[in-house]
Formats: sequence, C-alpha cells, structure tokens
Amino acid sequence: MKKVEAIIRPERLSAVREVLDKNGFPGMSATEIKGRGRQKGVSLQWRAGDYKVEFLPKVKLEVVVEDGDADRIVDLICDAAHTGEAGDGKIFVYPVVDVVRVRTKERGSGAV
Ligand SMILES: Nc1ncnc2c1ncn2[C@@H]1O[C@H](COP(=O)(O)OP(=O)(O)O)[C@@H](O)[C@H]1O
Ligand SMILES: [Mg+2]
Repeated sequence: MKKVEAIIRPERLSAVREVLDKNGFPGMSATEIKGRGRQKGVSLQWRAGDYKVEFLPKVKLEVVVEDGDADRIVDLICDAAHTGEAGDGKIFVYPVVDVVRVRTKERGSGAV
C-alpha cells in the first residue's frame, strides 16, 4: 500500500474530492495547513510598502491506496488540482506498512 499525500490549493479541494470519489476512492483525510515552496510565500505590494506573506494556506490531502492505484491517484489529483500557476502544490508518495480497520480489526489492503 502507498500513502499519497497531496498539498493542494484549498479552492481545488472539492474538485479533487469529487474526481477521486467518482473513480472509486471515497476515503481520504484533509487537513488545513500553511506552507511555502520555492517562492517562499508571496510578496504583496501594499500601500505602506512591500509586505511579505511567509506562509500560504494549503490543504494536505492524504489517501492510502493499494500499490497498483498510486500512479492513477497521482494523475487524477494533478489534473484536478492544476491551474498552471506557481503554488499548485506538491505530491509525496510513501510506503504504508499496515492498515487496521478499528471496528473489525481487519488488516492490510482489505482494511483500506
Ligand atoms: N520541500 C517541501 N517539503 C514539504 N512541503 C513542501 C515542500 N515544497 C513545497 N511544499 C508544500 O507544498 C506547497 C505548495 O508548494 P508549491 O509552491 O506549489 O511548490 P514549489 O514552489 O516548490 O514548486 C507548499 O505551500 C508547501 O506546503
Ligand atoms: Mg511555489
């Protein structure tokens, strides 16, 4: 199994959720976070001079899937989160050692 962790624009969350749901991936976790990438936040022109925003609001979306589904999920997220502008986000993929469904103690990919 893999955990696909996508840092995306908050305004793209519902589009990403919808496309994952439609493609058979209903389970996911979303967290509001603050982040910065290569642009180190943004510089804004303010009336009183330059104003630097060091962190921007982002959403961290976590989806655990079977190994064979990871590439497809990454593709779906990229397409749904894409605007073409800096700050579209980043996706990290991690190996997952185990999953346990608390209600039944089911383990492994059957519990995803
Ligand atoms: N090296 C990194 N490690 C962890 N999170 C990162 C890293 N780079 C970017 N992020 C996260 O991804 C978000 C979007 O990054 P983005 O600006 O699109 O990337 P970049 O400017 O590096 O192309 C950031 O706000 C931050 O939350
Ligand atoms: Mg950036």
